[in-house]
Amino acid sequence: MKEEIILAKGLTKIYHRGSEEIHALKEVSFAVAKGEFVAIVGPSGSGKTTLLNLLGCLDTPSQGSLRLDGTEVSGLKEKDLVKLRRKNIGFVFQQFYLLPTLTVRENIELPLLFNKRNSYQSKIDEVIELVGLSARAGHLPSQLSGGEMQRVAIGRALVNEPKIILADEPTGNLDSATSLKIFDLFQNLNSQGLTLIIVTHNVEIAKLAHRVIHLRDGEIAQEASSVGLSRKIRR
Ligand SMILES: Nc1ncnc2c1ncn2[C@@H]1O[C@H](COP(=O)(O)OP(=O)(O)O)[C@@H](O)[C@H]1O
Ligand SMILES: [Mg+2]
Repeated sequence: MKEEIILAKGLTKIYHRGSEEIHALKEVSFAVAKGEFVAIVGPSGSGKTTLLNLLGCLDTPSQGSLRLDGTEVSGLKEKDLVKLRRKNIGFVFQQFYLLPTLTVRENIELPLLFNKRNSYQSKIDEVIELVGLSARAGHLPSQLSGGEMQRVAIGRALVNEPKIILADEPTGNLDSATSLKIFDLFQNLNSQGLTLIIVTHNVEIAKLAHRVIHLRDGEIAQEASSVGLSRKIRR
């Protein structure tokens, strides 16, 4: 077995809405190996975003344990969680969440400002090139297409050199041709060793993953690792 970068055991999340308890995740357990590309699929409300938020340390589980690259997450103080998140995780969302008054370059630079890294100009150039935006570096988000905006968001997720990218329906707002181009980019990043976990409704995209995790009512329904495998055999 390859080295595990994520190890989730019995992850459970209960939300409270008034007197109502919502069991969004019920004892979800799985492991992700370093360099793996995992797709998470499932109907709306099945707990996909909740799971991604737990994996990304944006939220804490009600029960269960989570190890990220060997570090047990549960019980960490907020300060240490933030550090762990910055070091390991890059997030990409369906809504790109770019700052409208900052250029492409400045949006990508943003996470570095919090990380007190020196001599990072060349890092920004490298990332802009990697996501294919060299000709757009000085543009504002309003001057970009949807696909270009998502490239900026991906660049911003990459600039701190995370080990894991978590993406929540990253092509949900894009047309199918643009979606495939974004997935080319994700696959390219994955082939360079980045671990990828992507929530998606797009069947074509789920097929590109090494493994698909199906969520249903907060539980893992079925895993179909053969999907990616059969694709490799076909080629
Ligand atoms: N902050 C929250 N407070 C209360 N209930 C929530 C909250 N976030 C999600 N839920 C509920 O948890 C369940 C799973 O939601 P979510 O993880 O967003 O599913 P998905 O991303 O698969 O659509 C849903 O029933 C949703 O209404
Ligand atoms: Mg969701």
